[in-house]
Order: sequence, then C-alpha cells, then structure tokens
Amino acid sequence: MSWGTVHDEAGLFVPQYFSNMIPIANASKAVELVFDANRTAEILSNPMFQPDISVSDAMARNSNTYSFRFNRGRDTLLVGASYCSASTGRVCHSADIQPVFASGAAVPGFGQTGDDARFVHQVEDRFTTFAKTGPSLVHPPSHERVHESQLDYSHDPTRDLPSFIVHAQTPFNAEPRLPLLVNAGQITPTDIFFKRNHGPIPDIRLESHKVYIGLQHPDSSPRLDWAELSMYDIMSRWPKVTVTASLQCAGNRRDGLAALKEVKGVIWGAGTISNATWSGVRLADVLRDIAGIPTDLSHDMVRDFHVSFEADDQVHEDACYGSSIPLRKAMDPVGDVILAYEMNGKPLTRDHGFPLRAIVPGYIGARSVKFLQKIIVQPEESLAFYQRRDYKILPPWVNSSNVESSWDSAASLNEMNVQCVICTPLENEMISSSAPVTIKGYAIAGGGKGIYRVEISIDGGSTWEPVDRMEQHPDRKSGMFWAWALWEKSVPRIRPSSEIIARAYDSSGNMQPETPIWNHRGVMNNAWFRVKNVTQLPQHNL
Ligand code: MTE
Repeated sequence: MSWGTVHDEAGLFVPQYFSNMIPIANASKAVELVFDANRTAEILSNPMFQPDISVSDAMARNSNTYSFRFNRGRDTLLVGASYCSASTGRVCHSADIQPVFASGAAVPGFGQTGDDARFVHQVEDRFTTFAKTGPSLVHPPSHERVHESQLDYSHDPTRDLPSFIVHAQTPFNAEPRLPLLVNAGQITPTDIFFKRNHGPIPDIRLESHKVYIGLQHPDSSPRLDWAELSMYDIMSRWPKVTVTASLQCAGNRRDGLAALKEVKGVIWGAGTISNATWSGVRLADVLRDIAGIPTDLSHDMVRDFHVSFEADDQVHEDACYGSSIPLRKAMDPVGDVILAYEMNGKPLTRDHGFPLRAIVPGYIGARSVKFLQKIIVQPEESLAFYQRRDYKILPPWVNSSNVESSWDSAASLNEMNVQCVICTPLENEMISSSAPVTIKGYAIAGGGKGIYRVEISIDGGSTWEPVDRMEQHPDRKSGMFWAWALWEKSVPRIRPSSEIIARAYDSSGNMQPETPIWNHRGVMNNAWFRVKNVTQLPQHNL
C-alpha cells in the first residue's frame, strides 16, 4: 500500500505509507513531499494522518499546519507542512514545507518559512528525557471515573461482523466462530481477531496523542517524575521490531465454568484467542532511554518493580483501563514486550488499541493494554481494578457473597496456562460420511513455552493418538513460542455416541486437567476440550 511518495532532487522515488517513519536514503538532498491529486481523500482518511480538524474543514480553511518526522540514519528529519488548496489536490509541496534535521542542520534546497520552523521546534522541545535532563515539568492528564450510564458509545467504530459471535455491543465484545478462526490460518486477519473491551473505544488523534512515562523513585518517596512522548517520538527514536504473538483472554472458555455454577463475566466460548504480527518499539529500549532503567535483570529494581499501564479509555469499573507487569518481564531481552503501533502490517485499528498498545507475549490478554497513555515504573503492582479485583483465580469456596475479602490474597494472573481447543467439527454438527473427518484446532502455552504434543481421542478418552500435523513457530530472535500451534488430525469415522477429546502438553510437561476447575470469575478454564454429538450422514442427507 502506498499513501504518497517522497522523492529527492535526484528523482529517486520512495513509495511509502505513513504508518512507518520514512527512511530517506539520500536525505542530504532536498526532499519533497508530493501526493497524488486523485488520492487526497484517501491520504487524509488514513488514520495515521489525522488532522486536528476534520478533513472537510481542512480543505475549506486551506491553512492548517502539519508535521511529519522522518528518519535519516541516526539523524531525524522533521517536516512541517501546510495544506494546499483542494482544487489542486496537492496536500503540500516544496514551497510549503520546511524540513530540518533534529541535530539542527537545515536541509539544503528549502526556503525558510517562520511558521513551519517554529512548529518543528515545538515538536522537538517536547521530547524530554528525564534520565538525562532531570525531572521535567510534564503533567499528565488524570481520568475521572464516570457512572456506567454516562459511558458514551456513540463514537465507537461502525462494525459489520457476520463472522462473529457478539456477546455485547456496549462495550463491544465479540469472538470469531471457531471454524473461521482455525481456517483463517496461522495469522488471524485483523477483521476476524477477537475484540475485548471494557468501555467505549476512545477517539484518539495520532497528531495530538501523548504517551507519558513515569518513574516512581526507588527511594520509597512518593515522587513521580514524568516525561512526555509524542507518537512521532516513539515511531522515530527507536528501531521498529515485529513480534508474532497470540492474545488470549483469561476468560476464554468461561462457558465451560458457567455450565458448572454461576460465574461473573462475559460468557465467552473458545474463540477468545487470535494470533497476529505486532510491530512497534521494545518497551525495554524506551524505559532504558527515557527513565534510565537498568538493563541488568539481576538489578534490585528490575527484580522487584512493576510497570503499570494506563489507557485513555473510560470503563465500567475504574477511571480508565489499567494493568501492570513485572519490570523484569519488560526489561527481559527475550521477553519481547513491545509498544505496538501496527497489527498485521497496518496501523492498529481503533478496536485493537489505536494508536499504541502494549503487547505482552505469553501473558493473558488483559496485560496487553490498548489506547496506551501512561507507562509508570513503580514499586508495586498497578492499583487498577483489572489488576487487583479481576483476572485472578479465586479458590473454589469464594463466591459473590465473600469475594471482597478474598482478592488481596490471590495472585494476579500473568502467564497463560496450557490450552487446546477443537475448532472443527463443532458440537452437534452433521458432517459428510463419504470422506475421512479432519479434526482441527489450536493449542498454546504460557510464558514462551512451546506445545510439545497434542493428543486426540475419538472414543471418549479410552484411547489416544497424536495429531498428524502441528505448526508452531518460535520467535525468530528470542526463540520463544509466543504464537499458537495449529494442528490437524484425520480420522476415518466418528461414532455419534462418543466424544472427541483434545488435550495438549507444553514443553515443560504441563498437561491440561481432565475436568474444569470452577472459580468465581470463570478464568483460565483449560480442561480437556470435548466435542459431543457429531453425526456423519451421507452427503445427500446434509
Ligand atoms: N486495554 C484497554 N485499554 N481496554 C480494555 O478493555 N481489554 C484487555 C486488553 N487491553 C482492554 C485492554 C483484555 S481483557 C484483552 S483480552 C485484550 O485487551 C483484548 O485485545 P483485543 O480487543 O485487541 O483482542
């Protein structure tokens, strides 16, 4: 996909789209930013290219200042640009842009325009590194908790999702149907990826969004220093990395626990998992450079502290969505925690956390906080509802009558447990008897462990056989298994009276329990997966 072109004096064309900062190979020459006249509307509607006012206003007023930031080797090229008239269709041209390098050097070949130069310098001034310059005077916004009835869903994206089982429209919670999920292959397309929200989707502008990095000092004083980063800072300052990781909600398969006894939460089936590629920057790089966090994993602070994430959404149970992970996971070079701005090679969609989200591979999905606004290094776990009052396996004697006194003694969930699900055939499905039956599903383990073996029984658990095929790829750099395994098994025939069962072992020898283990919040159900009542009929009876 190409949203515009950048070319230098030598006429070298670099087709790009604006989710990436643009590396300009020959940037010692003048760089001109030109858009195809026929594609102005398309360019302006790109979510990575959001004006402060609406597109139609921008066209009418014809005078809005804009900025882009491009990488050039170790230096950074900043470009202030203005809209050109709607009639020419050119968003900006060489007379309107004023590029400078972050080092202060001007780019030869451009006239100066005061406004653009000022704008560029404002962008640069906001980029403060308190590790190097001392605490800044940054004051991040705070969120007020609103009553559930005041949550405004009118700005949620429009969705047409026939392939989903929608559990709730507000907040939007939906899972793909299992055959669709498994047949979509190793990487789940974004439009069928499960969607889990606790409130309205915030309408965030890339241009104005700020991410605040906070450090609560180890000397136990409550002092909190802040630095502020724009999305341009994040996208241009650190190398872009890509991690393939599955997200699974801790409530996946809650229906299996709800069948035993009442549970609190959305009654999810087994489709609250999907796998994608995520691109962004390493959280460890940002914390090292901005907050001066040591990279030595045995350092006391790295061992004992936590990284708290706060989002820019309003939610049911708290002022905003929040959660935390241990600092050692964030700093671990093979922990692969990233601040992602792309999913499957495109800018994050609003449903999945635009413009920035944490991706915490190997952990329950709740820790991969979307719409990220604050990242705070602190001595304690996050105080957020979703860290302290949710996503914990409470003991079986805890129910709604005594839950309040039980939260603090239960551990917050982090790594996923070993899981395996049959996606096709489905319970009560009628399938053809003229061909062998292909059983397909997924399996995953937590903390980067691989799936060692998936076993299938088609006689209710009396006998077991390994699957015929299984595909799972370790991360190319860290070697960790963050992505699920997809597997297949072909069997000649299935008797309608018997159960098909799947179970997996992970690379540490953990195996799923035979029966579900009930808990009040209905989390982490990973019992053997059973499919009943599959009937084979001659093709003409289907
Ligand atoms: N982040 C924010 N800001 N708000 C949320 O509601 N839900 C969490 C996590 N991050 C949530 C969030 C949960 S419980 C899960 S499982 C994942 O996001 C779901 O991510 P997805 O909607 O992209 O699939």
